[in-house]
Amino acid sequence: MRTVEWDYKLNEVRMIDQRLLPGEFKVATLSDFQQVADAITNMVVRGAPAIGASAAFGLALTAMRSKANDVQSLRTELQIAADTLRSARPTAVNLGWALDRMISATSTFDGGLVQLQELILAEAQSIADEDVEINKRMAAHGAELIEDGDTIIHHCNTGALATVDWGTALGVIRMAHEQGKRIHVLLDETRPRLQGARLSAWELEQYGVPYEIITDNSAGYFLSRGQAQKVFVGSDRTAANGDVANKIGTYMLALAAKDNGVPFYAVVPTSTIDLSIASGDLIPIEERGAEEVLDLQRAGQPISPHGAGARNPAFDVTPNRLVSAIVTENGIVQAPFDINLPKAVGGK
Ligand code: MRU
Repeated sequence: MRTVEWDYKLNEVRMIDQRLLPGEFKVATLSDFQQVADAITNMVVRGAPAIGASAAFGLALTAMRSKANDVQSLRTELQIAADTLRSARPTAVNLGWALDRMISATSTFDGGLVQLQELILAEAQSIADEDVEINKRMAAHGAELIEDGDTIIHHCNTGALATVDWGTALGVIRMAHEQGKRIHVLLDETRPRLQGARLSAWELEQYGVPYEIITDNSAGYFLSRGQAQKVFVGSDRTAANGDVANKIGTYMLALAAKDNGVPFYAVVPTSTIDLSIASGDLIPIEERGAEEVLDLQRAGQPISPHGAGARNPAFDVTPNRLVSAIVTENGIVQAPFDINLPKAVGGK
């Protein structure tokens, strides 16, 4: 199944519960927008494009299960739901992008209640379907950068689970593998939630891509020893100047790649490019609870003393000078990004 999908029989949203993988494959069923917002906040679903599609389906739930008697009442309900969904997580721009697209699809609408409900569901389904198609186009472009025999360092989870299907950076790796290139992947485990060790490893097992898990702090070692030829990551929001916000740890990885002359590629659908933000220091960075850092146990014991504090920024920003190129569905974008990214977003 897709990471997130609409159940046309039950008018429900179904999503893979990513908190439980790889131990358990469980599907969560959601029937109102508040449940979708909670699922985004609690990371039942995560990854920028998957969050965007989930939010769109959250509005579809509002529409399809509404008790409104007229179009104006439904519009009001949709706006309330959109406001709640928008605040579920701050960094991934796909969330706001999908909600804006959903609301703007209704703005010129001039029909009856049932037609508006159908339009909302159809728009959410289009966002989901387009995500898969865009990822495959992006993967075809990105795979050109991978050579036979490459070892690639990858951070977080950017695969099918982070999107509706197929993935961004991990989708590029999967495409290169399917093209017959012999590649090896070093997966950053990605503290604190271990999206690399849990989710990317789970995916690569299924695709048959050879991989090993590495601790985040050993990436510099492999880069300095010439044991990795490329770095591929995704993004949650890329600013107009090409600064890339992505999972915490990406910045350190990019620094180590630069210092060792290893190309660092961000794989970014245009829905993740925020041209309204001039540079990365303006991107809102989510800070999550200390328990994500402290809950880890070793030999059945907590890793830290009782009462220890912790800081937990979920993302960091990699400045554009460390980014070798940005792969989009419209092609591979080179610096100067402030000139070339708007062209890519415009499809040129
Ligand atoms: O906190 P998460 O797991 O939602 O963070 C996900 C990432 O940082 C991914 O790298 C990002 O969404 C881009 S890949 C689709």
